[in-house]
Amino acid sequence: MKVYELQSNAGIEALKLGERPEPKPRAGEVLIRIKATSLNYRDLMVAQGTYGSKLQYPLIPLSDGAGEVVALGEGVTRVKQGDRVAGIFFPEWIYGQLTRQKMKSDLGATIDGMLAEYVVLHQDGLVILPEHLSDEEGATLPCAAVTAWHALVTKGNIKAGESVLLLGTGGVSIFALQFAKLHGAKVIITSSSDEKLERAKKLGADETINYKTYPDWEKKVYELSDRIGVDHVVEVGGAATLPKSLQAVRIGGRISLIGVLSGRGEKVDPLPILFKSLTVQGIYVGSREMFEAMNQVISQHQIKPVIDKVFPFAEAHQAYRYLESKAHFGKVVIRL
Ligand SMILES: NC(=O)c1ccc[n+]([C@@H]2O[C@H](COP(=O)([O-])OP(=O)(O)OC[C@H]3O[C@@H](n4cnc5c(N)ncnc54)[C@H](OP(=O)(O)O)[C@@H]3O)[C@@H](O)[C@H]2O)c1
Repeated sequence: MKVYELQSNAGIEALKLGERPEPKPRAGEVLIRIKATSLNYRDLMVAQGTYGSKLQYPLIPLSDGAGEVVALGEGVTRVKQGDRVAGIFFPEWIYGQLTRQKMKSDLGATIDGMLAEYVVLHQDGLVILPEHLSDEEGATLPCAAVTAWHALVTKGNIKAGESVLLLGTGGVSIFALQFAKLHGAKVIITSSSDEKLERAKKLGADETINYKTYPDWEKKVYELSDRIGVDHVVEVGGAATLPKSLQAVRIGGRISLIGVLSGRGEKVDPLPILFKSLTVQGIYVGSREMFEAMNQVISQHQIKPVIDKVFPFAEAHQAYRYLESKAHFGKVVIRL
């Protein structure tokens, strides 16, 4: 079978197309013919060696993939041949809190991922895709969508009438926009591009701010939230945006710490957190239980993930470079 492997952490050029024998499912395992995969910012970090230090190469990258069940190992009962499935980001995080054991394996990093024609996964690490979604759409869910759901719904318990600040228009933020609007919340979203902000408005964003035109965007967020501040922040920016998010959030509000798009390692002033009685929560994707709860709602409301561009398998490098360019809005997909 054809497979992409990262030969090292030397960047996108270290991604090579190769051949491996088709894997065979053992007891409890499932053989999946992959139809589509999607990229996350984390996959760039894996390629560049900035996603933890313990990765071993060669490595099949990507956590996100969807496909069809084509063969079953002995004793498999959760899925059947022909089912359309996606893998879960942490194959051992089925429900409950994240633990060291459950985070030991994550697809496309500590274990091989989805950028291959066939993949074998344990039946417990799979979810059935919502019927109304294409394979490409299904492949966008495991990382970005589950993360946004975990932040706003599972932990954030978001309610109608609350306000949400979203940073940029990448994969996590656009899913967060869709989930926030579904729950009747008000969305304020930032972007470096007026054109992307127009697209966000069409998806229901109530207020938009260009963070290049308004570097002090936190002040505008404060004004746009009745000089109270927002209830929720989905913090994907990291070092450069967190101090601003701490100003933009209301007293008693919640910040979900998710990403490091602007970098990491700078000092955080703890004072606003205690003065404002904030809940600051780290979010690391989510469990199968969260993924399945999200899928039910996606099916019930016929929600469609927002895909910016689909690349053929042969153009995986271009897909990575496109994600790196930050030209996208929502998700970037590779079709097999
Ligand atoms: N903790 C977790 O479980 C988890 C899960 C998923 C992702 N993440 C992290 O969350 C972050 C977002 O991931 P993603 O896959 O959604 O990324 P992505 O799709 O690559 O998002 C890229 C977009 O983010 C925006 N952006 C970049 N720098 C920004 C800044 N300084 N301020 C505001 N917006 C900025 C830009 O939007 P505009 O072009 O509109 O300006 C850019 O196009 C990454 O750091 C990723 O590692 C964490």
